[in-house]
Order: sequence, then C-alpha cells, then structure tokens
Amino acid sequence: MSKIAVIGYGVVGSGTVELFETNKKSICEKVGRDIELGYILDLKDFPDSPFADKMTKDFTDILNDNEVEVVAELIGGLHPAYEFTKQLLEKGKSVVTSNKELVAAKGAELLKIANDNNANYLFEASVGGGIPIIRPLHKCLAGNEIEQISGILNGTTNFILTKMIKEQMSFDDALKLAQDNGYAEADPTADIEGHDACRKICILGSLAYGKHIYPENVHCSGIKNISLVDVEYASNAGYSIKLIGSVKPNDEGKLVAIVCPMLVPKNDILSNVNGVYNAICVTGNGVGDVVFYGQGAGKLPTASAVVGDIIDALKHQQRVLALSWDESKGDNSFMTSYKESKTAMYIRIECDDADNFKRSLSTVFGKVIFIERENRPDNELAFITKTMVEKDIDTELTILSHSAKILSKIRLY
Ligand code: HSE
Repeated sequence: MSKIAVIGYGVVGSGTVELFETNKKSICEKVGRDIELGYILDLKDFPDSPFADKMTKDFTDILNDNEVEVVAELIGGLHPAYEFTKQLLEKGKSVVTSNKELVAAKGAELLKIANDNNANYLFEASVGGGIPIIRPLHKCLAGNEIEQISGILNGTTNFILTKMIKEQMSFDDALKLAQDNGYAEADPTADIEGHDACRKICILGSLAYGKHIYPENVHCSGIKNISLVDVEYASNAGYSIKLIGSVKPNDEGKLVAIVCPMLVPKNDILSNVNGVYNAICVTGNGVGDVVFYGQGAGKLPTASAVVGDIIDALKHQQRVLALSWDESKGDNSFMTSYKESKTAMYIRIECDDADNFKRSLSTVFGKVIFIERENRPDNELAFITKTMVEKDIDTELTILSHSAKILSKIRLY
C-alpha cells in the first residue's frame, strides 16, 4: 500500500489531512492507485482526533517505512524541518511543503538533493497559499523572459491594511483578528515586518531568474509603522497602502528585489485586492501581464496547494519534475541595490509652520504634490515627490531633517 505522511498537525497540517480524507476517492483515481494516510507526526497529543491511530512522535517511523512515498512537511521554520526534509529526500521520498522559510533559505540545496535521489521537492503552497503560481511560473510561462514579478504576498498584512483602510480598525485589533483566523505565522513578526513576503519574493525570483535569491540580500520593511493618518492621506491622494514584494532586472540585467509598503493607485488591480487575498502580477516579454489571484493564507486554501503537490509527487514517482535553480551563496553580483532605482515617494513631516514650510520644500524637491486631510494639524505636512533615484531622495531628506521631523516615507508603486 502506498502511503503519505504529514509532519506538523497545525492549521495547514490539519487542513491537509481533512482535504485528503474528504477527497480521497478522487485523489486515488487521479493517482491511479490506492493511497493511505500513514502517519501524522506532531509533538502534541490529539487523543480526540479521528486520526489518533495515525499519530506518532517518532520521525523514524516515517523515514523507515518503505511504503511512505510522499511526506508533507508542514511544521514551518528552519529546524528540524531542514534535517527532516534532507533525510527524507536522501531516502528517495518526495517532500511537499508550505514552508517558505526553508525553501527561501535552502531551496537550491534541497532541490539538488531531491534531483540526486530521483525524488521531488515541491512547494506550491509556499507562495500565495492556494494560488497556483509556482507551476505556472516554472512551466506555463517558461517561454518568456520575466520582466517583473510584483504583488501582495502576505495575507495577514493585507487583511490588517484592509481593515485599517475600510473600517479604520486599529492595527492591533486587526492583527488579533488575523491570528484568530489562522492566517498569521506562529510568530506574527514575520508577517508584520515583511519577512514572510520577502521569503516568497525570493522563491519566485529564484525560480524565474535561475539563481538563489537569499532573503538577507533583499531590502525588507513591513507595515508596523503605517498609521491611520498615512492611510487617510494616501486615500485622499487616490492611493491604497499595500505591502508589495517585487523583483525585476534593471537595464543592465541586474536584479532589484524589495519588500515594502507602497502607495498603489486606486485604479490598479492590486489596490482592489482585499482581506486575506493575495495577487501576483507577472510580466513576460511574450505573454505581457498576467495576474494570479486567490486566498493567500488559511487552512483549506493552503491545504489545496499541498494536496495538489502530493498528487503530483505520487504521479511522478522516481521521475524528477526538474524544478531547480542555481546556488548563489557568497555571490551577490547578479543583484543590485534598490537605492539605485527610481521611485516617487510619499512623505509626511512635522515642522514648525507647515504653510510656511511648503515654500522651502520646492528648493529641496522641486515640484511636489501636497495632500490634505480633515483637521490637518498646523505643524503637519504630507506630499508626494516627483520620480527620482531613491538615494537622491535620501540626500534631500537628510537636508530636510535639519528643519523638520520625518514621520513617514512610503514608496509609490
Ligand atoms: N502568514 C502567511 C500569510 C501565511 O499571512 O500570508 C501564508 O503564507
């Protein structure tokens, strides 16, 4: 009997077991043989679970059972996920995962181990939850040079920003709601500070451009400093604030990758992606723009991608699906700093006399667009600069900081 095993019985693990058991008949038909859930590995006890007889705390039960062909690693984090995955692949078992932290840190290495052992390492669920993006990028769009990948890659932060924009809900209340819904990471800092989105843009960039992009080489800032005041100014100027991840080659072919909040024009498709939904825009030199949209987090949407990978791995036993990219440790020469890129910037400052200060701003930034809000304090000013090289904006802001306090600085999409 062919078996699968699930490591980690949290939100995604329990969703995977639920979806597998619910759709078992059609899954077995798709694979062409009977498949059983063999084991669920978790350190916690689940005595009341209908799958209590499948529970184990011993990883070697899975590793040493020759009937286990595919393992879903759904514990997240680097350790012991890395050690488990490596050992399973070395034994020729395929591993599927939603663990973006591990894929972003060790993807090139684990894909090579899988390849060397005639096994597959699949991670459709690691980016965009239930949205198909890994396969489309790797297969359907393979005929294109990818000019840009950008999008909303984190459900938790998009849920929080949507609540702030549409209901003026406080950041803390919106985060609590996202956690209650099972969207957030175990430590929500990874969501809030942009690290989760950063791991995802690294995976997409590595796949599209063929070299491992490491998260530590990508500028990443999150949403914890976004205030309702910025949300209001942005809205009055015709924008929504979204956490955007983006990777693209510049004119010299070097990659620029960044994760940060951006002001997205309200008529842009990304501006209308709300709640836990994610959207990923890919531009190819043949296809033009394509957008992938769907639920980017949550139990069953993410399980949908995991179970899809399980089926694919079972159908391709002993055949490698050729997913790979090159290791790039110690060589960052194919990337360049975002500071060299051009952007317009939303800036909010505190100064002595805002109306008076407006005049001196033009000597620093040239023409800017001022934004108003109801009951704007006399000592507050918000404006959008023209499009400039980012390091030049920084130089001007340093000059400005001698006579004003910089409260917010957000790039335009
Ligand atoms: N915490 C992640 C998110 C889960 O909010 O998008 C899905 O990767």
